[in-house]
Parts: sequence; C-alpha cells; structure tokens
Amino acid sequence: MAAGKGTRMKSQRPKVLHRLAGRPLLQHVLDSAAGLHAAQTLVITGHGASEVEASLAGLPLQCVRQVPQLGTGHAVQQVLPHLPEGEGTVLILNGDVPLIRQATARALVEACGDRALTLLTVEMADPSGYGRIVRDDTGQVRGIVEHKDATPGQRAIREIYTGIMAAPLAALRRWVTALRNDNAQGEYYLTDIVAMAVAEGTPVRAQRATGETEVKGVNSPQQLAELERSLQAELAAAQMEAGVRLADPARFDLRGTLSCGEDVEIDVGCVFEGRVRVGQRVSIGAHCVIRDAEIGDDVVIHPFTHIEGARVGGGARIGPYARLRPGADLGAEVHIGNFVEVKNSTLGRGAKANHLAYLGDATVGARVNYGAGSITANYDGANKHRTVIEDDVHVGSNCVLVAPLTVGAGATIAGGSTIARPAPAGQLTVARARQLSVPTWKRPVKAKKG
Ligand code: UD1
Ligand code: CA
Repeated sequence: MAAGKGTRMKSQRPKVLHRLAGRPLLQHVLDSAAGLHAAQTLVITGHGASEVEASLAGLPLQCVRQVPQLGTGHAVQQVLPHLPEGEGTVLILNGDVPLIRQATARALVEACGDRALTLLTVEMADPSGYGRIVRDDTGQVRGIVEHKDATPGQRAIREIYTGIMAAPLAALRRWVTALRNDNAQGEYYLTDIVAMAVAEGTPVRAQRATGETEVKGVNSPQQLAELERSLQAELAAAQMEAGVRLADPARFDLRGTLSCGEDVEIDVGCVFEGRVRVGQRVSIGAHCVIRDAEIGDDVVIHPFTHIEGARVGGGARIGPYARLRPGADLGAEVHIGNFVEVKNSTLGRGAKANHLAYLGDATVGARVNYGAGSITANYDGANKHRTVIEDDVHVGSNCVLVAPLTVGAGATIAGGSTIARPAPAGQLTVARARQLSVPTWKRPVKAKKG
C-alpha cells in the first residue's frame, strides 16, 4: 500500500518516496518482498501516483491506482480484480513500514498457509498512533481498534498492529468487500477485517515481530529521522563487526553499500553513498563524502574531501578539501592536495597536484608535478578537449593549459604561462610577457595646493 497522502509529513513529495539511508521507503519494502518470490506483486498507488510509479519503472510488479484514497481497506479493494480466483495467501505490506525483514514476512506467509488471518504485531514502549490489538480474557485476538477510535482503556494496550498481515485470498475478498467506514476518520479500515474473521470463526493469529525497528512506521519527519538513526546504528554496528574502526558510530552515515578491507579507520561525520569499496589500512578523515568509489590499499584521505565516481590507487594521499569527480582515476602514490579538483582524468603513479588546481579531461603521466593554481582549460564554450601531460613533466604555478594540448615527457612549463600549442619534451616552455624594469621611472607625487 503506497497510495496514502502522508499528511503528517507536511511535504509535497509522496510519503513512500521519502528517503531512508538514501533509498525511498517503498524501495526498502520491495527489496524485502522480492526475496519471497511471490506469484504477483502489486503496488497500490494514488497520492502522487505518477511520481511513485516512475520510481518503480522496470521492476517486475504491477501498479494499481486507488483514486480517491479512502483508507487502507479501500486500497485493498482496488487490487481484488487483479488477483486470481480461488485460494492463496496475500501478504499485505505497508509502504511506510520500510525495514520489515524478509524472514519475518516469510514466517507470516507460512503461518497464514492460505487459511489463517495472520497479523504481525509488536509491543511498543509508546504505542500512540498505532492500531491496538484487542484480545479477550483467554488471550484470543478479537480485533484491531485504531488509535483515534480507541477508548482510554484500549489506548493503554501496548501491543500494536504493525500494518503487515497475511490473509487467505478468498476470505480477504469477502471481508474487504463488506467493509464500512463508520469510524472516527470516515475511512475504510483494513483492520476491521480482523473482527469479521473472528465472527466467522476463521483462525486469527498474531505473530510478534522481533523488535521495534523492523516494524516502525514513518508518518512524520521526526519518525523518519528516528528510524534513520536506528538503521544507521545497525549499519555502523555491522561495519565494526567486520573490523572497521569508526571513531563514533553515531556519526557515521551509509546510504548504499560499503565494503572495507582490514584496518580501515573512519573518523566522524563521513557519508558513504552508492557503492564504495575500500582497501586495507585506509584512513578516512572527518567529514568526507564518498560516493561510488574504489579506494586502494594504504590510502590516506584527509578531512573534508569529496569523492564521487572515482578510483584511487594504493598509497595515494588525498585532501584535505579535495574534490574527485566522476572519471577521476588516480594511480598509486598520487597526491591530491587542498582545493584541487580532478574530473575525468587519469593520473599516473606518483603524480602530484598539491594546491588549488584543476585537472579536467586530462591524461597525466607518472611523477608529474602540477603547480599551485594551474588549470586545464578543457572547454571551449561548445566542446571539451583533452590535455595530455606526459611523464615527469613539471607544470609551474598559475599556468593555463589550453586543450587540446600535449606537453611532452620531461617538459617544464614556466609559472604563469598560458600554453595553447604543443610543448616539446625535455624543454622549458615559457609563454608570458617578458619581465621589464624601468630604471628612470619615478613615482608620481601629490600635487601641492595653490
Ligand atoms: C495503519 C493501520 C494501523 C497500524 C499502522 C501501522 C489501518 C486502518 N491502520 O495506520 O492499525 O498500526 O498502519 O503502521 O490500516 N494507504 C493507502 N491508501 C489509503 C490510505 C493509506 O494506500 O487510502 C497506505 C499508505 O500509503 C501507507 C499505508 O497504507 O503506506 C498505511 O496508511 P496510514 O494512513 O499511514 O495508516 P496508519 O494511520 O499509520
Ligand atoms: Ca502509517
């Protein structure tokens, strides 16, 4: 179910597209469901349907629209025509309960076994807002009462419905069709089918979830942030379990996958996105943002460095305040210093650009020294061009290398040069105005008044 408006988020974005650990809530739910190999996967969309459906493009599932959105029972009514006649088990997941574990969902389906209505429940320290599980004196489930419809006595119940159930298909069809909306919110509550099942004598089971985190719903920015912290704590714990030394697990964010070799140290405030692979004995300074990158062994990344879509060779030193953009491919022992930006460029072994520089669309050889303030002028306003800097070149400070350009092996480019034609190997190339001194020159003096 992913059609609700998510009023309490107070956002224009559909609730199920808000992100947890970098991925939409709905995506988390679908990932858990995927492993169950269901005969059919249906996503009920409604509020922001086209946006939600666009986020699902290419996935093996079917979207069914619910317009208008009259409650969770009404949502399930919409999918009935798309389900086969006869027996079966329907697993109902909430698009805003993202961390449901696959094993939990599978156990629910098995407990249903095409005949018992099986609810996933949990004891919550603070159950407010959730539907409460009402049991009789013998402990049998009698029904679910929504928070807004609950009496003070019922509100004291701490066992809540997680929004996840497995139901026998034929019976579900019958119950959902018979739902009414005479309640506090004027909605068709899916949860009302529990009392119907009880009245019919259909077995109703409540299965307890293992912990609160996997069944917490996201209804507000506060709950989203709380769940993010719970999830990040788990992700940090898993990294430490694998031997990664986090300076502070509470200040670590993973929005994708991170695999590290032995003896990796990560200082506070780092964010990892997409797919990041880190070698052995790597040290990552505070407040780095690293996305879709491959970092070799023995690399030191100093604080406040941004790396995206880049590969960093063994023994390299990066930062502080460096920026590696997509296509940066650094060889072993490369040094990239503060305020240096590298984009779509390869740097050979031992090349150095230590201060305030830009390398874009460049092929840089081994041991090149690229001076402070130098840039490749790779864009002519319409097209990008390549700069080739061969092995052992020394580029002085504040040079402009106008691409397309080749600087031959061992060449030296004098500081302050603007180089627009090939610079031959082994020679000094200077391209700046000749220095001139004027011995007869006198400073102007202030004119006297009167
Ligand atoms: C629901 C349950 C409540 C349970 C809680 C767990 C009902 C009536 N209540 O309450 O017992 O404790 O989840 O998190 O089911 N949706 C639709 N169409 C609609 C309305 C909602 O698709 O017309 C979807 C939402 O997008 C969301 C899910 O159903 O993914 C739950 O809706 P929400 O309004 O958040 O229900 P809760 O009030 O949290
Ligand atoms: Ca909810």
